[in-house]
Amino acid sequence: MQETNVHSTKRLLRVLSGEKGSIPPIWLMRQAGRYLPEYRALREKASSFLEFCYTPVLATEATLQPIRRFGFDAAILFSDILVVPDAFGQKVSFETGEGPRLSPIASREDFEALHETIDLARLAPVFETVERVKGALPDDVTLIGFCGAPWTVASYMIAGQGTPDQAPARLFAYREPELFQKLIDRLVAGSIDYLTEQIKAGAEVVQIFDSWAGILPADEFFRWCVVPIKAIIAGLKARAPNATVIAFPRGAGSHLEDFSAATGADALGLDTSVDLVWAAKHIAANIPLQGNLDPLALVAGGTSLSRGITRIVGTLSGRPYIFNLGHGILPQTPIAHVEALLAQIRTVA
Ligand code: CP3
Repeated sequence: MQETNVHSTKRLLRVLSGEKGSIPPIWLMRQAGRYLPEYRALREKASSFLEFCYTPVLATEATLQPIRRFGFDAAILFSDILVVPDAFGQKVSFETGEGPRLSPIASREDFEALHETIDLARLAPVFETVERVKGALPDDVTLIGFCGAPWTVASYMIAGQGTPDQAPARLFAYREPELFQKLIDRLVAGSIDYLTEQIKAGAEVVQIFDSWAGILPADEFFRWCVVPIKAIIAGLKARAPNATVIAFPRGAGSHLEDFSAATGADALGLDTSVDLVWAAKHIAANIPLQGNLDPLALVAGGTSLSRGITRIVGTLSGRPYIFNLGHGILPQTPIAHVEALLAQIRTVA
């Protein structure tokens, strides 16, 4: 918790300092994206998704679009978690309609072909984007930077693409635990460098996305999710003591309590499956929670949406919390439903 933010004009920073009881701040994971016509138009100006992420004028505009349209309380840097493998020298591309493609890491040779440390120069356009966004944001909007957690990033580096169960990375970790540990250690060090630069460039909060945390058995969850995220948070705070970290271990379920206590994250992002009554009881009362409306309830709209919002607000209003979805907004989400969500949050809550 950051005591320095108690009197901030930024609602999201005040909640992260422990404020509760007022209208909750709101932002949505993947709030810049294909559900917005202005995003789709902007996206056409770059030949590839990676080039889009690495062009500060375009990435800045994509970051600001949802703020202008909806007035969210936070902007999240427009980029992707897979710029980190790219900055370690792995080949990364995004195929339209198919998702990410990387040259898979299948052997020790593939691992050894990576850079030993992250190439921050390659990521300079990302830091420039952070600076530009920071300069353009309204005073009451918080800027969130991010990275993927080592386990989630490693799982894409090993499979070379999205998979239903991250079996390639799980097998790799069982068969070659020492080599896998080296990859994780490299990602921990690179993530500390990367997040430190985002904070230096103007990010006020960072979120660590562990989208695949929930696929691991308990022991592996501790080793590959908890320990590396704890190391990133400690390393980042050693360099940037004011850094505030939201951790999002998607699917962590009953591990959330231990995860929260062990990692030292300032706030916890909850996925759609988490029972908020359970979370409110088991997660320390001073830890702000973030989440967790089902992205499909936002697609559906109507009473499913309004009931979902009422339930979340009703369950969490006794503690500091940030309204969000339980995972990224879906491309088919109607804009009118996002407007209805904001209207309800800002009146009834
Ligand atoms: O939240 C935001 O608005 C900021 C931008 C952001 C993107 N990706 C933009 C993006 C963030 C925070 C991410 C995180 C990310 N990327 C995660 C973790 C969160 C999660 O959703 O689980 C993961 C696993 C990735 C990897 C990734 N990037 C995949 C699997 C895909 C393809 C699937 C898809 O939705 O298309 C991407 C591409 C991507 N990243 C898009 C966007 C807007 C769509 C690409 C396009 O516009 O053509």
